[in-house]
Amino acid sequence: MNISKIKLVYYSPTGTGKRTVEAIRKGMDLDYDVIDLTPPDAEFKSHSLAKDELAVIAAPVYSGRIPAVAVNRIKKVKGDGTPAVLVAVYGNRAFEDALLELKDITEELGFKAVAGSAFIGQHSFDSEESPIATGRPDGEDISKAMDFGAKVMEKIKGMGEIPDLEVPGNRPYRKGGGGDPRSPESDPDSCILCGMCARVCPTGCVEVTDIVETEKERCTACTACVQNCPTGARHWEHEGILKAAKWLSTEHGVRREPEGFL
Ligand SMILES: Cc1cc2nc3c(=O)[nH]c(=O)nc-3n(C[C@H](O)[C@H](O)[C@H](O)COP(=O)(O)O)c2cc1C
Ligand code: SF4
Ligand code: SF4
Repeated sequence: MNISKIKLVYYSPTGTGKRTVEAIRKGMDLDYDVIDLTPPDAEFKSHSLAKDELAVIAAPVYSGRIPAVAVNRIKKVKGDGTPAVLVAVYGNRAFEDALLELKDITEELGFKAVAGSAFIGQHSFDSEESPIATGRPDGEDISKAMDFGAKVMEKIKGMGEIPDLEVPGNRPYRKGGGGDPRSPESDPDSCILCGMCARVCPTGCVEVTDIVETEKERCTACTACVQNCPTGARHWEHEGILKAAKWLSTEHGVRREPEGFL
């Protein structure tokens, strides 16, 4: 199989998936373009990939599934029998049905999975009080991602027809998401109204005027606003999120390693 170009396609609010696919791409050593599905306007742009391109498609795992916002944006990208490398990025708990779901969605869109993977990224709810996979992907993850990229290229070099790829997961998928609408809060005493939380929000649900307002119904809890707030004013108070963070930190502290399915 001859590949003319790599297309990195990702939805990555807190950047761990982005860093992972960049490392996979480095291991592939080919010319590339980026389709970043993270900003709100990604919802309105369509993309078509050719047969001789290789898509590397990454999404985070939320509740063992691909979050609905990511699914909707991935659906704007069409393949034409285009080979795809699938990357589910999770916060050291579990990826459950997410990789299988990513395979099903992308194959419906005209891609054909040649490889799948599950990599670990710092959990969105990581904090000093409740560390969860802090700093990942770290150096080891990055070098594993580069190795994986090189192995994928080796695999597809001699490939004609793409056989069906087996990845872990079950159908019907587990029930994802749900829960009451919630969003981080902004502490008016330390908020400098810089607008960063609004700029990094993937759903555009934050508005900064002389106060910070958040449309909770459209908040995905991605925590990009918290991680990027320059003063620490943006923070979680929601009891369910704080409890989940503590539980994840104590029950899922043992380091998990990336897995590739080739
Ligand atoms: C609402 C929500 C649900 C999550 N559910 C899971 C999960 O089921 N398993 C897991 O290991 N990590 C889970 N995570 C953590 C993310 O998958 C992880 O932080 C990932 O690296 C984020 O990717 P990004 O940096 O590319 O946005 C969840 C995060 C959020 C915000
Ligand atoms: S990023 Fe932080 S400091 Fe800036 S407007 Fe938002 S809450 Fe305020
Ligand atoms: S407001 Fe919600 S969706 Fe927007 S960046 Fe913050 S956590 Fe993510």
